[in-house]
Formats: sequence, C-alpha cells, structure tokens
Amino acid sequence: MQTVKHLPDLREAVDELRSSGPIAFVPTMGALHDGHLTLLREAREFAPNVVASIFVNPTQFGPNEDLDAYPRQLAEDQAKLEGEGVALLWAPGVEDMYPDGFATSISVAGVSEGLCGASRPGHFDGVATVVCKLFNQVRPDFAIFGEKDWQQLAVIRRMARDLDLTQPHADRIIGIPTVREADGLAMSSRNAYLSPEQRAAAATLNVAMHKAIEGIEAGGTVAPILADLEAALLQAGFASVDYASLADAESLELLDEAPKRPARLLVAARIGTTRLIDNMHVEGRDA
Ligand code: PAF
Repeated sequence: MQTVKHLPDLREAVDELRSSGPIAFVPTMGALHDGHLTLLREAREFAPNVVASIFVNPTQFGPNEDLDAYPRQLAEDQAKLEGEGVALLWAPGVEDMYPDGFATSISVAGVSEGLCGASRPGHFDGVATVVCKLFNQVRPDFAIFGEKDWQQLAVIRRMARDLDLTQPHADRIIGIPTVREADGLAMSSRNAYLSPEQRAAAATLNVAMHKAIEGIEAGGTVAPILADLEAALLQAGFASVDYASLADAESLELLDEAPKRPARLLVAARIGTTRLIDNMHVEGRDA
C-alpha cells in the first residue's frame, strides 16, 4: 500500500490506479475499528481498487468537542489498511486541506439542520466541505460510508445530488449497515472512551431502541414511546439525551406518528462525557 500526504502525489497515484480499473473510496478519520474494516471489505465488492483516507477534520469539531483528544494512530491504521488490501492511503495534513486563505464552506440546508445538526452547530458544514474536497481529490467511482452516521450519509448524498457530482455520482454513494458489538452497541472510535461501567450501561441503547421500534411499528403513538426510550436511557446511567427522534429516512423530517414510508429512529445520548449515536430502520405502514 502506498501512503501519500500531498495533493500532487495523490493525483499521480490515483491516475495510475485508475488505469487499472475503477476506484472505491472509504474516507475516515482514522482510529480504525472493525466497523471501518467492514467498509473496506465492502468497498472491494464495488471496485478492484480501494483508496482510503485518514484526516481528522478540524472543521467538523465544535469548540468544546474532542479534536485534540481524538485518537491518532497512523502506523497502526496503516497496518490494518494493508491487511484489507487497500491500494492507496491519502493522509493529508491540515495545511494541505486548508491552506492559508481557505474561505469556502458547503452548507446543505434542511437535512443538516435538525438532530446532530441542532446539537452540533456547523458540524455538517465541516463534513460536507471536507467530503466534497476529498471527492474532488480522489475522484472515485464509488464512495462507501457507514450507516451509523445516517444523517451524515443523507447530507453527503444531498450535496452530491445538488452539486451534480459525478465522481462519485450520488447513486454511487453506498451506505453500509452498522457493525455492532456482541451486545448490540454500534462500533465507534468513541466507545474506547467508556469506562467498564459506562460500557455495560451503553448496551441499553440497543435494547431500548428495539423496544421503541416494536411499539412504533405496532402503530403506537410516537411521543410517549420516545419519552419511554429517553427514560430507559437515563435510568440505565446515561447522563443526558440530545435527541430520540423518528424521522423520514431520506429527508430526515421529523415524524410524530407511525410512518407510512420507511423511517429511521435516531438517538444521540451522552454517557459520562462521551456522546453516542445510533439509528435503526423503522418499517413504513405502506411497506
Ligand atoms: O465519518 C467520518 O469519519 C468523517 O465524518 C468523514 C466522513 C471522514 C469526514 O471527515
């Protein structure tokens, strides 16, 4: 696997790679876990050449978020990428991505605004901007993202449609189902911050979400079901719940009754100072 850290080297390496076949791209912020490795494996189903990126993007972290504490472990990550047969790693520095004078930001209205967008102002502008840059740099045929960050995926697809991107085309932005630990907790780099007690309590998220989905799909009234879900999390030891919401799967418009179309139950909650997110499919009544 070749690692490149500067844009001219990336362009050269990508041109050479493309001459041997299509490219599937897996953007990451590093600290790779089994969830990422699944994305890399899935990427190979779409194209023979897999390019990964590792860039801890400062513009998607808020002033009180964990940018400095975010785990950085390039050598360990490189070994994992090699093991998954990745051809090329793009690992730019902050000065390569945001040189002096950088002044552009992409803001995707609507789908960026609620849920994590409300509790993390500016987060999705940072994500949309860096992902658009990464797409323009790597120019992949396919891009692979985890469904764990459902809102992020919706924002990126909306951006690709709205900006008529072709590399990749919006239809070739692929979402891969969330990879979970044995007790159902969604894999995340942030799980490493949890103490053993917090880690045990975190499993309640999965159980409480499944229970809520059963109630919603049975036609129950949504607000009390979501209130019960929040109460179950607080009782299990979560410090606070940013949101527990039912939303249209694509537009992310909030729904207050059992959905007609496929929907998503989305939750963000803090355990100690660690913020966990998860989301799950909810069947529509017209399915
Ligand atoms: O999901 C992530 O790891 C990041 O948000 C992404 C898509 C790599 C952009 O920085």
